[in-house]
Order: sequence, then structure tokens, then C-alpha cells
Amino acid sequence: MTILKASGLTKVYGSSRRAETRALDGFSFEVEKGRFVGIMGPSGSGKTTLLNVLATIDAPTSGTVLVDGLDTSRLKGEELALFRRKRLGFVFQDYNLLDSLSIEENIALPLVLDRRPLTAIKRRVEEVAAWLGIEELLNRFPYEVSGGQQQRAAIARAIVHEPVLVFADEPTGNLDSRSARAVMDAFTLINARAGATILMVTHDPFAASFCQTVFFIRDGRLYTEIHRGDGRQAFFQQILDVLSQMGGAYDEHVADRV
Ligand SMILES: Nc1ncnc2c1ncn2[C@@H]1O[C@H](COP(=O)(O)OP(=O)(O)OP(=O)(O)O)[C@@H](O)[C@H]1O
Ligand SMILES: [Mg+2]
Repeated sequence: MTILKASGLTKVYGSSRRAETRALDGFSFEVEKGRFVGIMGPSGSGKTTLLNVLATIDAPTSGTVLVDGLDTSRLKGEELALFRRKRLGFVFQDYNLLDSLSIEENIALPLVLDRRPLTAIKRRVEEVAAWLGIEELLNRFPYEVSGGQQQRAAIARAIVHEPVLVFADEPTGNLDSRSARAVMDAFTLINARAGATILMVTHDPFAASFCQTVFFIRDGRLYTEIHRGDGRQAFFQQILDVLSQMGGAYDEHVADRV
């Protein structure tokens, strides 16, 4: 079953014709329910723009986004805010936890905003925290746990209300390789356990190798997609091959990150 369908998405920034940037240029794809999907591409290829348009944070210049059959461009104002809060989950590079709330309160936030009964909230938060191996940290504050643990709390918050889609933009971007692995294991687990459909933008071929499908974007268009077979190692190699095929811009970008 298709949970997300984008058709002919374009996004043009800037008003005067000379200053125009065509960040998306006829991007189309479909995502099956329950998939763990990666999105890769050179710097400036339109990944963040795509994620923001798919997640209703930004409107496309033209084209449509269907989430679970619903044309998201029809949603306005309060309705759109509710849709985003109830049906979507977000994970950011810098975790975006609230410093004044405990880890438990941070994870509970989507359920509290939804006015669920307190006992049900507590039970659900404990369940999700246990999946992610952070149940011992619930009473701590974000500044009292590591970056990887903060990101796992952010993942818990993103799925606690059982959204139809979870969006993640460079979730391992600030993490060392050990924490990055723990975070990717966490995504894999919630994908399997909670059946969450996940869309993750990443520069990191290692992180992408945990996905089931990786879409590659170049110049705002779909370049190609690859699907994981049996082993993660083999998929990692396949990802590297596509990236080197895509060429220059990507290598330069990786070079200035390392
Ligand atoms: N608000 C904006 N106004 C004008 N141009 C923008 C804006 N946001 C992005 N762009 C341009 O649109 C293009 C795509 O940007 P986007 O941020 O989607 O790329 P990206 O693939 O996420 O890059 P990176 O890997 O560096 O994060 C770039 O040329 C960028 O400069
Ligand atoms: Mg980006």
C-alpha cells in the first residue's frame, strides 16, 4: 500500500527570474507503507526542500503530495497544524528537545498536546523508551544525557503518537560513529516494531545502508533508487557505487565535511 505519493514536485525560490533557484524540478516518487527510506544526493540537490515539502512545512510551487491518499495542499491553517501534529513525526539533526522538560516529558509531548489520559501516556512513554534503551534516563534532562541518547529520545517523541510518517533530516549529522550506529539501530527497531514509515535524508552512506530503499536526488530530480537485498554491507557498497556515479559535487561535499 502506498502511504506517500509525490507527483511532479517543483519548488522555485526567489521572485525575480535572474535570482531564481529551482530546488525541485519535477520530482516524483512513491513510498510503500512501513518502509524505511533514505534520501541521498549532493549538497544543494534539494533534499531538505523535498523533505519540507513532503512534510507540509513548505508548499511546492507546483505538483502534489498525497499522504495516505490525502492531498496535503487542501489543508490550511488549524487543520494543517493538526495534521502535522497528529499524523507526522520529526527528527532533526540537533535533536530539538526542550531543555526545561525531562526526557520523559519531552517524549510525552505529542500525547499531552493530544490530551490523552495521563496513565495511558505514562504507559506508552515507558514502552517506547524501553524499545530504544533509554528507560533509565526518563527522569534526566536533555543536558544530562549524551547526544546519541538525546537523539534516541527525539526518535521516541517522533513515534510515540503512532504517526503515519516519520521525517528525519540528517539525524546522525552531529554524532560520532558509535552513537550514529545506536541511532540507526533505533530507527531500524521502531520501523520493525512500530511499523513506522520513515523518510531519512542523509549524507552518510553508513547511515543510509540501514534503509530498505534509497532514493537519489540530483538537481531537484529523482536520479535513481536502489533496494536493499540481504546484507547491509553489500547495500553499503551499492550506495557508494551510485554516489560515485553521480559524481563530482557529492565527493567535494564529503571532502569538506571530513
Ligand atoms: N529559502 C531559500 N531561499 C532561496 N534558495 C534556497 C532556499 N532554501 C534552499 N535554497 C536553494 O535551493 C537549493 C536546494 O537546497 P536544499 O537545502 O534543499 O539542498 P540540500 O540537498 O538539502 O543540501 P545540503 O546537503 O547542503 O543540506 C540550493 O541551491 C539552495 O541554495
Ligand atoms: Mg539539507
